[in-house]
Amino acid sequence: MSTHRGERVIIMDTTLRDGEQSPGASLNHREKLEIAHQLAKLNVDVIEAGFPIASPGDFEAVSRIAETIRGPTIAALARTVEKDIESAGRAVAAAAKRRVHTFTSGSDIHLDNILRVTRAQNVERSARSVRLARTFSDDVEFSAQDTTRADREYLVELYTAAAEAGATTLNIPDTVGYAIPEEYAALIAYVGGRVKARFPDVVISVHCHDDLGLAVANSLAAVRAGARQVECTVNGLGERAGNTSLEEVVMAIRTRQDLFGLHTAVNTREIYPVSRMVSRMTGLTVQRNKAIVGANAFAHESGVHQDGVLKQRTTYEIMRPEDVGMEGTDLVMGKHSGRHAFRHRLAKMGLSLSDAEIDAAYERFIDLADKKKHVYDDDLLSIARDQMDAIPNAYELAYFHVSTGTGAVPTATVRLRKEGAVTQDASCGDGPVDAVLKTVDRIVGIPGRLLDFSVQAITVGKDAMGEVSVRVAFGKDVVSAKAASTDIVEAALKAYVSCVNRVLAGRQDAPAAAPGPPRKTRRARRSKA
Ligand code: KIV
Ligand code: ZN
Repeated sequence: MSTHRGERVIIMDTTLRDGEQSPGASLNHREKLEIAHQLAKLNVDVIEAGFPIASPGDFEAVSRIAETIRGPTIAALARTVEKDIESAGRAVAAAAKRRVHTFTSGSDIHLDNILRVTRAQNVERSARSVRLARTFSDDVEFSAQDTTRADREYLVELYTAAAEAGATTLNIPDTVGYAIPEEYAALIAYVGGRVKARFPDVVISVHCHDDLGLAVANSLAAVRAGARQVECTVNGLGERAGNTSLEEVVMAIRTRQDLFGLHTAVNTREIYPVSRMVSRMTGLTVQRNKAIVGANAFAHESGVHQDGVLKQRTTYEIMRPEDVGMEGTDLVMGKHSGRHAFRHRLAKMGLSLSDAEIDAAYERFIDLADKKKHVYDDDLLSIARDQMDAIPNAYELAYFHVSTGTGAVPTATVRLRKEGAVTQDASCGDGPVDAVLKTVDRIVGIPGRLLDFSVQAITVGKDAMGEVSVRVAFGKDVVSAKAASTDIVEAALKAYVSCVNRVLAGRQDAPAAAPGPPRKTRRARRSKA
């Protein structure tokens, strides 16, 4: 099947910006950079790398991506506020292809309650912002939030003013996931059609949220109504119920080329590797029955289906697993695998670790391979991710012991090392995890309140590593971290210590609170846009 017929639909990936706003998702700079590398391999057209005004951390993450990643355009988000736009413009300055994306709101409910400006003031401020953004980049995107609850005539006026001021892409978002496909298509056709009648070169873009489970359906309906950019995220991550899922939209356009008559430039064979990387790094698991990238997406269970597929795959398969890179990915490694094979496997998964990081990761791999027979790609991703988590001068787990059992009082001893000095303490708890975490609190002297705690097996089998994700409040600072081990108490301990380190690092280096769209606690938290 040819995937290169018809016009191209531009794929703007916003995993690192809107996707990172997923409740529970948190990515450090290094993880963002690795994902950006993988998105470049996926060949998306635009990577929205973050919201630089939000914090110095966000600014730095976007700048690093702009300096390093070649191929896709690197975009940065900014409100229609001078200092936001300047920050976004500076953050993407080093990119070979850069974009400033400035946004306001389009509905009266937002104008009256959030922005507190009149419609006319909003038009004037938007046009001014686009003109300022053009001084940083010839490629400027303009969005108005909540267009699906806005007055269409007003949207035409607002988007026309943005186009007149020099916006090259006009994004018409369904911010609250309110639209139904026919209705959204009609909105895109109307507003897009009216503005394009005067500015034929502008690209109409769509950005949908999944509150009613219709983000992909709405995006595809909009494409049929003339939109030529889709904003989406890997695994459909994003604020609340998430954004349009990149893999679903791309594969729908490809699989139903007969209907759309369009194509994307995405290298679909990289879809599964990037999905996996994003899932491991954010700690947000992909549900088994998720379209395209779920573990069951290509599994045929019923006898009738299996029989059909064995006779002729196309009886029940509209796509092939290899089309999305799902075959041949899980090369099993064991303790006899050498350093060279290890390095090669990490590189194949799109990870670019330094020599020192490879050495440290290899030690952990050998240690793990001693405990469990098969080490899978997801285990390796988890080990590699831990290397990217390093915070200088941080606490490190030196030793722990916990005794527990039916009728016993769980009691823990923990030793933490910091800058060469080892401190130890002991405590009881109502379970082994409670006991070790309480002991950490005693050593560190800043008690944390566990807000979320989840354990998940990374791969299959009784010997699988368990990944523990925790969210901890230290006073007003809320931080998240993950850690994996074949011992889940050790994983919990490491994840908790990682939160302690983050909060201490954040307190030393707390950025000024940044204004922005609704955001979670920024200080001492891994950067989130
Ligand atoms: O959902 C939304 O409207 C957004 C904008 C900033 C584009 O994320
Ligand atoms: Zn959004």
